[in-house]
Order: sequence, then structure tokens, then C-alpha cells
Amino acid sequence: MIVLRSKSEIEAMRRAGDLVAHALGLLQPHIRPGVRLGELDRLVEEFIVSEGASTVYKGYQPSPSVPPFPATICTAVNEEIVHGIPGSRRLREGDIVGIDIGAILGGWVGDTCYTFPVGEVSPEAKKLLKVARECLAAALAEVRPGKRFGDLGAAIQDLAESHGYGVVRELGGHGVGRELHEEPHINHFGQRGHGMRLREGMTFTIEPMINAGSPGIRLLKDGWTIITEDRKLSAQYEHTVAVTAGGCEVLTPWYLYIGEAAEMA
Ligand code: MF3
Ligand code: CO
Ligand code: CO
Repeated sequence: MIVLRSKSEIEAMRRAGDLVAHALGLLQPHIRPGVRLGELDRLVEEFIVSEGASTVYKGYQPSPSVPPFPATICTAVNEEIVHGIPGSRRLREGDIVGIDIGAILGGWVGDTCYTFPVGEVSPEAKKLLKVARECLAAALAEVRPGKRFGDLGAAIQDLAESHGYGVVRELGGHGVGRELHEEPHINHFGQRGHGMRLREGMTFTIEPMINAGSPGIRLLKDGWTIITEDRKLSAQYEHTVAVTAGGCEVLTPWYLYIGEAAEMA
């Protein structure tokens, strides 16, 4: 079932979204060579709790055959696409790292992700980060009542593939609100004019995973970490959005919190 949210519900979701966007901004100065991913996880958890919110990824279990996710953030270094578990691994100069953060505040979920360069990265990595951000922006530009989900997917796929990149098929965006994962599932590929129509009050994520090479994926033995089949780089950016009468409201405005150093990558 797809639930349409009222203006006051979207107002409440804006607070949850702002919180997770703010957490990305707080993390940015810590994303440097030598930092352990587990330290980043601890910083975010402390911030979320200090704001009166709760983590939402920790303990998440999509099915009984998968172990509960053990951390507050998901990390994804280089060829990791999504759902890496932050631990003792240290970031190194030239890495790229996706940081995905979910939190629940006042009963509403915010969900967002940003891929940062670590120190100076290769020209290839810089281009991937830029195009992945542009893919998310291209999808946002399609969001308004009456458009279809295929329009969003096509916007992402066309741009990514025009650069020779692959769009991950097996994972997508999702409705979000009271729960982290609600209906509908949202593909980051597709055909214009196809799929369900967008309606005012829908709230969902757009979170394309853009691979430098082929779109294929592989799941590691930890049951969570997903990497590229060809071991090439992958980047992801995620916003929680609401469909408004006039178009799209981004509820996770990390661009207000993340400085130029990362954006210039
Ligand atoms: N990062 C995923 C998303 O944005 C959710 C991760 S669930 C977790 O939808 F358990 F891995 F954290
Ligand atoms: Co997320
Ligand atoms: Co999400």
C-alpha cells in the first residue's frame, strides 16, 4: 500500500531528513586517510542519539536468513556498492567511501547517502562521483505529480550509460515514512512513460548505485556487503523526497551541510 502524506506529516519528515543530512555534514571533516570506519559509525550514532532520535539500520533484518545489520551507518569503500559494515578498516588516501545514514525522529524516518573522496582521488573516481550526483539530480528533476516512475529511472539510466557506466538493477529506492522500507520499490532504470504515476504526498528515496564498469553485483560472505562483480568503483547518493503540488521537495538537504571540498571531487 502506498500512503500519501499530509503537509504536516511532511513537515515532520523534514525534521528527520534534516537530521541525517546534518549527520553527513558533521562527518565530512572526519573523512580522512587513517580514520577507522567504526569511528565514523560511533560519531553518527552519538549525534543521532543526542538529537533525541534513534538509529534505524542497526538491527534491521530483511529476512530471517540474513543476520541483523550491526551498525548505525552503512559504508561502501571503492568497489563496495552498498551495505558495508563499518569496523576496524581504515580509510586510505585515494579511496571513495559511501556513507549511508538512516534515523527515526518523532516516528518518522530520514534516509540519505553521500559518497565522499578521501584526500586526493584519481580523475576517474572524481568523474564517477560527479556523474553519480548528476544522476540523482536528473531523477529529482523528473519528480512532480503526474510523472511516472519510469521517467525517473530513464533519466538516471540514460545519463549513467552515456558515460559508459552501469546502473545496479537488483537494489532500488523505496517508499519511506513510518518505516524505513515501504512501498513502492523504485527502479533506477526504466522507460519513460512507464510505471506508476507520482502523486502529491508520496514520500520515497532515490538512491542510484552507479558502477564505473558493468552493472553486475556480488554479495560477500558477511551476508551484507555488496560489491561490483568486475571490482571497479561504485558510487551512490541518496535523498528522501516528497512529491509536492509544485514538484519535489528534498527532505535530506545535505548540500546545506557538505562543503565544497567534497563537491569539487
Ligand atoms: N541503505 C539502505 C537504504 O538506503 C538500507 C540499509 S538497511 C541496513 O535503503 F540494514 F543495511 F542498514
Ligand atoms: Co539509505
Ligand atoms: Co534508502
